Amino acid sequence: MDFEIQAHPSPLGDEARHEILSNPGFGDHFTDHMVTIDWTADLDAQAAAVASGDFLNIQGHWHNARLEPFGPISMSPASAVLHYGQEIFEGLKAYRHADGSIWTFRPEANAARLNRSARRLALPQLPEEAFLEAIRLLVAHDHQWVPDGDGESLYLRPFMIATEEFLGVRPSRTVSFRVIASPAGNYFGGELKPVSIWVSRDYARAGVGGTGVAKCGGNYAASLAPQLEAAARGHAQVLFLDPLHDNSIEELGGMNVFFVFADGRLVTPELTGTILEGVTRSSVLQIARDHGHTVEERRITLDEWKTGVASGEITEVFACGTAAVITPIGAVQDGEEIIESPAGDHAATLKIRKELLDLQTGRGEDRHQWMHRL
Ligand code: COI
Repeated sequence: MDFEIQAHPSPLGDEARHEILSNPGFGDHFTDHMVTIDWTADLDAQAAAVASGDFLNIQGHWHNARLEPFGPISMSPASAVLHYGQEIFEGLKAYRHADGSIWTFRPEANAARLNRSARRLALPQLPEEAFLEAIRLLVAHDHQWVPDGDGESLYLRPFMIATEEFLGVRPSRTVSFRVIASPAGNYFGGELKPVSIWVSRDYARAGVGGTGVAKCGGNYAASLAPQLEAAARGHAQVLFLDPLHDNSIEELGGMNVFFVFADGRLVTPELTGTILEGVTRSSVLQIARDHGHTVEERRITLDEWKTGVASGEITEVFACGTAAVITPIGAVQDGEEIIESPAGDHAATLKIRKELLDLQTGRGEDRHQWMHRL
């Protein structure tokens, strides 16, 4: 795919950019450019796909690929995405290595997940090469925005939106794929420290057959009310349960959960179709296996969490995600009951975190060829 390049000199001076990069926070600042690829449906091809029985094989063509200055998007107030939330997104990061080169981590896993989400939200498939090229181009033009501090990176946010001006409820016939980028430090702000979380009893994140497995904006919109409830009680994240399966643990508002057992086992909720298939989650499982840990993907209930902590069987709990990296969970509050993680130094959690960050920042061995030079 050929991209038209409409680059411009950074509107921010070096000094202002350095100031931002000295304390990037999360999601507050954006780089100088964005990439866009438009898509238009091919209704004849779509009808043929439906006739052949593959009704979800959304047909059309990608065009008008371009890199342009970061700025407001102009669209009709009747655009489908603004009414029915036909939207999906991804999150991945670019890391600066000691020699100045810039790398990203398992981008093909994000490209594949974007396409799985697209199928669920009746959006078109984006070729993996277009996804990778969009990222490569954006980082090539905005490379000065990649921070080099400990735990810092350039967060890349690809997303796909339904742009058709139409209020009937059916898949949009025009779509736009975009990538923007934002320098990132610790998602939770400040220095890394254990976070506390709130168990949502009134709200669920996903239901069987719903969109829980897809990375779509609606899932995150639905997490905001329980997230406010958590914040009102002083917690950083909300924990969702599956009340139909003995309150088994699902995930947090924006990250997966892991449990470290005293016997060295690592346990994380299995992918049941209602949990996001985290790229960090699958990487942690692989790293743990590489280190000889027994890993279990299975249902784990809130009761097992409580009794496991009380008996000493569970020694650490952590959250993981692209944005969150790996963050120890210090306490969980369920109603009036507070379960503190065992007092300890979160050694296993921090070891896995270091292993992952070393690999991403070029200080560790890339055993699985996960790193992709941009
Ligand atoms: C990510 O980890 O990339 C996410 O999309 C989660 C979001 C809470 C920032």
